[in-house]
Amino acid sequence: MKSSEPFFSLLISIGVGVHASPWSSLNETLGGRLRVATPLALPCFTKYGDKPNGVDESFCTTIREEWKTNDLRVSTAGSFMNLQSEMCLSDPEDQCLIDNTVSPASIPSGNSTCNQGSIPSYYIQVACAEDVAAAFKFAEEYDIRLTIKNSGHDFMTRNSGKHSLSLWTHHLQDLSYSKSFIPQGCREDVGAVMTVGVGVDGNTAHYFADEHDSMIIGPYSPTVTVSAGWVMGGGHGVLAPVYGLGVDRVVEFRIVTPDGVERMVNACQDPDLFWALRGGGGGTFGVVLSATHRVEPKVPLAFADIHLPPNITADTALAWIQILVEESLDWGQAGWGGHVGGTFVTHFNPLPTLTRDNSTAARAAFRRPVDFALAHGGTANVAVYTGWLEIWERFLLPLDGEQGGNAGMGSSRLLPPDLFATPEGHAQILEYIRTAQTLGFDPVNFYTPVSTPFTYGRIKDVTPANDSDVGRGTSVHPAWYRSLWHLQTIGSMAWNSSYAQRLGFLTNLTAATRAAEGLAGPYAGTHFNEANPFADGWRESYWGGENYERLLEIKKRYDPKGLLKCWKCIGFEDEDVASDRFRCQGKLQEDVQRAFA
Ligand SMILES: Cc1cc2nc3c(=O)[nH]c(=O)nc-3n(C[C@H](O)[C@H](O)[C@H](O)COP(=O)(O)OP(=O)(O)OC[C@H]3O[C@@H](n4cnc5c(N)ncnc54)[C@H](O)[C@@H]3O)c2cc1C
Ligand SMILES: *[C@@H]1O[C@H](CO)[C@@H](O)[C@H](O)[C@H]1NC(C)=O
Ligand SMILES: *[C@@H]1O[C@H](CO)[C@@H](O)[C@H](O)[C@H]1NC(C)=O
Ligand SMILES: *[C@@H]1O[C@H](CO)[C@@H](O)[C@H](O)[C@H]1NC(C)=O
Ligand SMILES: *[C@@H]1O[C@H](CO)[C@@H](O)[C@H](O)[C@H]1NC(C)=O
Ligand SMILES: *[C@@H]1O[C@H](CO)[C@@H](O)[C@H](O)[C@H]1NC(C)=O
Ligand SMILES: *[C@@H]1O[C@H](CO)[C@@H](O)[C@H](O)[C@H]1NC(C)=O
Ligand SMILES: *[C@@H]1O[C@H](CO)[C@@H](O)[C@H](O)[C@H]1NC(C)=O
Repeated sequence: MKSSEPFFSLLISIGVGVHASPWSSLNETLGGRLRVATPLALPCFTKYGDKPNGVDESFCTTIREEWKTNDLRVSTAGSFMNLQSEMCLSDPEDQCLIDNTVSPASIPSGNSTCNQGSIPSYYIQVACAEDVAAAFKFAEEYDIRLTIKNSGHDFMTRNSGKHSLSLWTHHLQDLSYSKSFIPQGCREDVGAVMTVGVGVDGNTAHYFADEHDSMIIGPYSPTVTVSAGWVMGGGHGVLAPVYGLGVDRVVEFRIVTPDGVERMVNACQDPDLFWALRGGGGGTFGVVLSATHRVEPKVPLAFADIHLPPNITADTALAWIQILVEESLDWGQAGWGGHVGGTFVTHFNPLPTLTRDNSTAARAAFRRPVDFALAHGGTANVAVYTGWLEIWERFLLPLDGEQGGNAGMGSSRLLPPDLFATPEGHAQILEYIRTAQTLGFDPVNFYTPVSTPFTYGRIKDVTPANDSDVGRGTSVHPAWYRSLWHLQTIGSMAWNSSYAQRLGFLTNLTAATRAAEGLAGPYAGTHFNEANPFADGWRESYWGGENYERLLEIKKRYDPKGLLKCWKCIGFEDEDVASDRFRCQGKLQEDVQRAFA
């Protein structure tokens, strides 16, 4: 069945029940774990598509109150952290959103309709490998589009899809620790590890690691998971400068490939697939069920947490950013990493040189920003703490419970350290920040991770693998290992933005992306999990040409029928832009491109 028509008749026939439709027999195979996906805000609307809908007042009240909370969006199959995964970006009518500018969020006035947008039609609550195998078989037989949702944090519109069947892996919550570990089929012991089910979030993983006197290197947000999109996209974290990226630390994946086979993939079994999973991206090579990550012994950490008041002017933010730019290389060389922003710096350091002298060296390293912040009415805390969990619990966790419900997007460019070494380089970076300012990106809102494997890359052999070196190395853009900042420029579209407003925002974002590419030079790359989904040159910029070619070859080998496909993922073709499958992105993409023609 090739056209989309049979898909719709199948959709309809599922409601019938009396006749055994393919959908109901799939549901039987899945033990009843096939469900209809509906938009989060549906209970607040009187119309759903062209049908009347019964409003559920009390459910609607909860949704309005919790509209931006990570927990609600992670635990609901048909809802996603970022609104671009729910709205059909190219068609502003096609969405089911409420007003996120007020709290509780309010229902649009007038007779508005809840439309499905890019939310999948059905989802499978994945419980085991057999569920995934059944989904692949069904997708192939009936030409059904598959998408994969885990925590739903993706910015790139890759975790959802109109008219798709979604594999929801959130409930795979197994966790185990092992003091020593030999990947299946290997001989070498890789030391202490945690095997983390794909649905387990960073917060849970951090607590579990601490119970075993360990630290796991994970994302900054408590609700991003560690074993799926994060790690397959590189996986940066504030301790990555010293301990490496997620891809440097993962030693094994349990995955179901599109042929329905469950595999333990590591340096010794399917080593080329292992390489591909270490940076090739989520949603591409199969459905991961869990991953095993090396962990570090718990150590004290130096922590610098310096903030300006939120109401500073753009000029004060620029003067502040100048200091960050001037100091950053020294910090990086001393093993510090974390985040910098228009109103703050948050940096971490696990190296004994910084942690054994009772904060003296740490305070000396951050004297300039501390003085600046205090002179401008800000706050500063530079000290050594007992371990990661203490900092996580006291300072980080309280901040991050309401990061969802926005159409936030950014651009990403990995900046080489030499830009930070000279006054000319500093001036170029500041010039970039000012260019972005003219495009609508206020320097006060500037935010950039300093979480490249900067120290790790200089102390370990992390040369990306090549054909004579299969199974070692990673497939992320090699620029990760020769960069200091992961420069971002971020903004968002209004929940109810018109097509022209969306195009305006994305055109400006793309102009900023191009300026960042000019700043970083041709050998730099992009963190594709936090990239501008509408910029061009993505193959080269996300992976580098050599990695891309090899990743594509591996993709074709493990997914010859193309059962998995996502926006600008490995195997995405130029002609897919204009296809029905990607029509929520396609029109905007063509218009953004036209703006630069
Ligand atoms: C608030 C916030 C903070 C963030 N912080 C960081 C950070 O500190 N460091 C960092 O590196 N990134 C960060 N990110 C980006 C994050 O890494 C990506 O959004 C990542 O894709 C999330 O992966 P996920 O599996 O949790 O989410 P999802 O959105 O569910 O999935 C992401 C991608 O992986 C695919 N996928 C999901 N599950 C599976 C599976 N089981 N098998 C195969 N493919 C799968 C999806 O189809 C999609 O393409 C952040 C994002 C947000 C929204
Ligand atoms: C699948 O079966 C379960 C259990 O019988 C049922 O609750 C569910 O609604 C069915 N799914 C669909 C999409 O009909
Ligand atoms: C809202 O829509 C319903 C059904 O489509 C219609 O009967 C009603 O008149 C509309 N109300 C307004 C205020 O437009
Ligand atoms: C910022 O707000 C504080 C009070 O919260 C006020 O004292 C200060 O003057 C404000 N600064 C600017 C630049 O507006
Ligand atoms: C470390 O510094 C703190 C305050 O700066 C002080 O109270 C404490 O006694 C010092 N500890 C040691 C071992 O020097
Ligand atoms: C885009 O940038 C231009 C200046 O180049 C600015 O005038 C316009 O307001 C910006 N548009 C948006 C949507 O930010
Ligand atoms: C591939 O790796 C080997 C050793 O790991 C190295 O000798 C060789 O130069 C590399 N080839 C390329 C093209 O990078
Ligand atoms: C979007 O909603 C806001 C209220 O949140 C309103 O002020 C604005 O006019 C609306 N914009 C459009 C394009 O409808």
